[in-house]
Amino acid sequence: MSHVVGKEAMRIWHPCTQMKDHENYPPVFIDRGQGIYLYDREGRAYIDAISSWWVNLFGHANPRITRAVGEQLARLEHVIFAGCTHGPAEELATRLLAVVPAGLSRVFFADNGSCAVEAALKMSHASWRNLGHPEKCRFIYLTNGYHGETAGALGVCGDALYAAPFAPLVVPQIEVAGPVCHACPCGKTRQTCQAECFGPMQAAIEANAEVLSGIIIEPLVQCAGNFHMHPPAYLSRLRRAATAAGCHLIADEIAVGFGRTGTMFACEQADVSPDFLCLSKGITSGTLPLSCVLTTDAVFDAFYHDYAEDKAFLHSHSYTGNPLACAAACETLRIFEEDDVIAANKPKIAHLQAAVRERFAGHRHVSDIRSTGWITAVSLAADPEKGTAFDGRERTGFRIYREAIKRGAWLRNLGDMIYFMPPYVITLEEIDKLTDIAFDAVEAVLG
Ligand SMILES: Cc1ncc(COP(=O)(O)O)c(C=O)c1O
Repeated sequence: MSHVVGKEAMRIWHPCTQMKDHENYPPVFIDRGQGIYLYDREGRAYIDAISSWWVNLFGHANPRITRAVGEQLARLEHVIFAGCTHGPAEELATRLLAVVPAGLSRVFFADNGSCAVEAALKMSHASWRNLGHPEKCRFIYLTNGYHGETAGALGVCGDALYAAPFAPLVVPQIEVAGPVCHACPCGKTRQTCQAECFGPMQAAIEANAEVLSGIIIEPLVQCAGNFHMHPPAYLSRLRRAATAAGCHLIADEIAVGFGRTGTMFACEQADVSPDFLCLSKGITSGTLPLSCVLTTDAVFDAFYHDYAEDKAFLHSHSYTGNPLACAAACETLRIFEEDDVIAANKPKIAHLQAAVRERFAGHRHVSDIRSTGWITAVSLAADPEKGTAFDGRERTGFRIYREAIKRGAWLRNLGDMIYFMPPYVITLEEIDKLTDIAFDAVEAVLG
């Protein structure tokens, strides 16, 4: 069945995919996963170099998480979360509030990243409305920012690839040019940066102060938007500016939360506490869909009232607070605590960053290598010196991705960029193996 090709065979419409590609490259039939490896039906192994879209932290079929979910399954698989609560959600709220930045005190559950962003945007505006400021309904977001693909989230999407095709369906918010640190226009380095590029942001905040509900940012790394990375200085400055303007700071740590940037949350590196923190992906270590929005007492109190119709946050998803997903998340947080994961990750992160640089620095088609924590991205160009990109129709990145699959690594490209974001259980030897495969795949296409 995996080898049938042609439009007629395609009953399943895959996400973010040109389905016609599957005429030449049928979807790989993944039969099982173990640790950092995915296995197809023929038993071939692939290193999951991008953690299955950045969700997996502790490996596939992790025995601890599997056991926790199994035990919960035998007890309670799901229950309506309006009017009910349950053990896994209660424990998860306690565990989350113990590790997120101080000041966040309330947890609202949803079931995927985009919906967490939707909930945060709605909650931000509705809190102002409840406080007598219905005019505060606009949001600032950064160029290259990505916050999901539902209609509200596309309103704050700074990547035209995702937003432009649906423009008529979307309420456009306020886009501001963000930091472009790999080619800093101010001539600063990560060490010397004081967010000198903050001017456009400051101007936009001042111009819209009356109507601004909040500013949304992916702290430290804009993942889907070509892995633009900024130092903590920008985030600190943004926190100060949002406070001064009287609007919310919404930190979307859906991709970067739970250790990806080297600290539990990226905001920690700037010593910043947002008004909203959106989390998903790694929260269950990639086991089950779950997301949440954490917020402050000030926001929560704006909804607290005698009558639901007047001020309650009327927003729900059927699978909100699913007990199985919460059990997986509790076990994920227990692993973090018991195995001191953030400290244990440090040498692996250093090794991954060094291994990628060792192989790709100076390569004739590499225009930039950038890293933050576990995330390392390699930009490829036809002529890096002249700044000439590859012809899009050559599909260079896609061909490298296919070559890497042949060699045993799932290294999905982002345009002409390859990136590494493996599960934390990868070993130093496996990092070397992965980066060797990546190098060979690049050479197979460009050599
Ligand atoms: C920063 C960020 N926000 C939001 C989302 C959307 O999450 P989901 O794909 O679960 O809807 C993503 C997904 O990649 C993301 O990286």
